[in-house]
Amino acid sequence: MKIDWKNLGFSYMPVKSNIRYRYRDGRWDQGSIYNSDRIELSVASNCLHYGQAAFEGLKAFRCKDGRVRIFRPAENARRMNKTSAHLLGPEIPEELFIDAVKRVVRDNIEYVPPYGTGGSLYIRPLLIGSSAQIGISAAQEYEFIILVVPVGPYYKGGIKPVDAYVSEDWDRAAPHGTGHIKIAGNYAASLKPTKVAKEHGCHVALFLDPRTHTYIEEFGTSNFIGIKPDGTYVTPESPSILESVTNKSLLELARDLGLTTERRRIHKDELADFSEVGACGTAVVVTPVGRIFIGDKVFSYGDCIGPVLKKLFDHMTGLQFGEIEDIHHWMLPLD
Ligand code: PLP
Ligand code: COI
Repeated sequence: MKIDWKNLGFSYMPVKSNIRYRYRDGRWDQGSIYNSDRIELSVASNCLHYGQAAFEGLKAFRCKDGRVRIFRPAENARRMNKTSAHLLGPEIPEELFIDAVKRVVRDNIEYVPPYGTGGSLYIRPLLIGSSAQIGISAAQEYEFIILVVPVGPYYKGGIKPVDAYVSEDWDRAAPHGTGHIKIAGNYAASLKPTKVAKEHGCHVALFLDPRTHTYIEEFGTSNFIGIKPDGTYVTPESPSILESVTNKSLLELARDLGLTTERRRIHKDELADFSEVGACGTAVVVTPVGRIFIGDKVFSYGDCIGPVLKKLFDHMTGLQFGEIEDIHHWMLPLD
């Protein structure tokens, strides 16, 4: 294995193993490590036809003291269970979820990027309805799989600003649909609007509230943060956006740093009032947004990361790599 740790992007590579648990007859098995990244499913598996598929995303870091730590896995366990409950899937006990994460990270320890390279091990839990059926109903059987992959920055260029295109013709989620949970279908729904954003020269699509197209919701893979000139951190409140673990953590860090925070509806006209805009999430961490294109208007936020987002980025990554004291106890040591 020869990996160019400093030049990792966000792309798949086969690693040593993944872990899989089976849910049969109302109970989870003990889980097994697999060295193949292939799965065998019936052609009639529910997840393939009817989308009973949930996923999560979290990261493990090689810290300054040499130990490996995982960022807030209990939050992902909680959210995966919220998604599963909506899809009528089984509950994954939090201890099972965290133990599964630890087992697969341990088995792939040589894929955790070294401290100082900026990389991390992305952990991707999946829950799929696997039993064969043709009628539409919840599956009887499930697979809980966790795969891992070493990653660097999600967008090429590290923390260089990305441009966003407001999707006025398509939504990623319905007003009372599935936008608040992490199901595979939300990402299928965002493919076309993201392609349109790219055709307009932008990296990402920014979605509006699906009922009125008046309020800012989120990006296809991350939450929205607006920073006002006085440093206030504003992020949208909406029933159709994903509750981001990163955003929740940044809100706390912002308050630790003495900033005012607001979680509320954000009218699209307020895009003119922000001095900095960012996208936040596990994969994108805190990525500055340089310009937002909406209809025939363009809002500009500068060609490098602004001071408030930079402070938040440094604080978050400092904490994740063990350079800043973890006062909230968010980092779970692997061993
Ligand atoms: N919003 C969407 C649509 C996402 O896919 C993600 C990524 O998981 C986020 C927000 C950020 O969530 P988190 O910070 O928990 O990764
Ligand atoms: C994450 O940030 O973990 C995500 O799931 C976003 C994306 C890669 C789908």
